[in-house]
Amino acid sequence: MTPTIERTEVLLVGGGVASARCARALRRHGFEGRIVLVGDEPILPYNRPPLSKELLRDDLPDDLVLAEPERWYERRSVEVRTGHRVAGLDLDAQEATLDDGSCLRFQRCLLATGAEPRRLRVPGAEHALLVRTLADARRLREAATSAAGGASVVVVGGGFIGLEVASSLAALGLRPTVVELGDALWSGALGRELSDWALGRLDAAGVVVRLGAAGTRLDDEGAWIGDELIEGAFVVAGIGVVPRDGLPADAGLVVADGIVTGGAHRTSHAAIWAAGDVARVDGRRVEHWHAAREGGERAALSMLGLPMSPIPPPWVFTEVAGSTVDVVGIGEPWTAERWVRDGVLAYTNEGQLVGAAIVDSAMPAERAREAVAAGSVVDLAWHAR
Ligand code: APR
Repeated sequence: MTPTIERTEVLLVGGGVASARCARALRRHGFEGRIVLVGDEPILPYNRPPLSKELLRDDLPDDLVLAEPERWYERRSVEVRTGHRVAGLDLDAQEATLDDGSCLRFQRCLLATGAEPRRLRVPGAEHALLVRTLADARRLREAATSAAGGASVVVVGGGFIGLEVASSLAALGLRPTVVELGDALWSGALGRELSDWALGRLDAAGVVVRLGAAGTRLDDEGAWIGDELIEGAFVVAGIGVVPRDGLPADAGLVVADGIVTGGAHRTSHAAIWAAGDVARVDGRRVEHWHAAREGGERAALSMLGLPMSPIPPPWVFTEVAGSTVDVVGIGEPWTAERWVRDGVLAYTNEGQLVGAAIVDSAMPAERAREAVAAGSVVDLAWHAR
């Protein structure tokens, strides 16, 4: 039996903040057509940043992590199909087939399918808990609360997720050891200065860090580095994410470690846009909440043919042992790093400001973003004074 084909003006594929922001921006700019959002998680779009932070420490209720409250979707007539995956995409027909066999024909489609955790490729890798979804975070919270106070735990990966999780677990009274492959935290991507600062904070919080170390095997007792056992009541892994770009690649869109788009989030097909972790926008894929929200909004403007400002420098925030860190301009190559004042680190390339890190809100991140957009260390120092 051929399925009935439903029609929608806009189809949003992926149930994260990029889709939610796109829907919000479309309605805010007066779009009145039908919007259908399809997401494979069983819950409305939610913010992921708290999963490794407040949610892990405080057990936040679900509705506090939602990107928009449930009634917002009703009020704005945005139809949400949670618990459903788009299983096939026909570019020529502009049709998406869902996992229940239903079919949606769209005029415009946003692909915002996100990313999924990279898996360890070592024996016993299945022992590692991951942190990507609300369900993952709840499992980890349960493991943390059922481990005895003061119990040792292992965190594989000293990047954004690993350090946030280790910090939260230490705050819960556990004793984490972070096993990081690189010879600096964040695999050195944020430089030696910030890594040294973070190592000091983590040490004071009781987090042990093993740099230049790779877990070679996991089991019930913890993680092994060669023949050395790092004991842990449980092991968590945060070793990066990979974009969920299989569907668009199979459909024939141009994909290269993410869906390739121009600055207006248009893909290689005129009716399809991409945003969030899955999108490589103007040559750069930024895996972060701000980029997903801003990308969703920009895609909406682009769908409506409205003008938009240039893409601002990327802005990522994280936490290390009770301190906040905002990083602006991450991903740009830099050659020198220097603290311009307490809590404000400048990354430069031949004298030009290409990035900044701000500890404990030592200056407003938006001002740092402006300084980085202008390439000016003087602006950064001025705003930070
Ligand atoms: N053993 C130990 N460490 C490893 C291994 C390994 N086998 N493989 C990779 N690593 C380390 C890397 O050197 C890096 O420091 O894991 C770290 C991964 O860090 P990120 O790339 O920051 O990835 P992750 O922490 O998983 O965060 C994923 O989630 O919240 C978002 O924006 C955040 O982009 C980030 C994403």
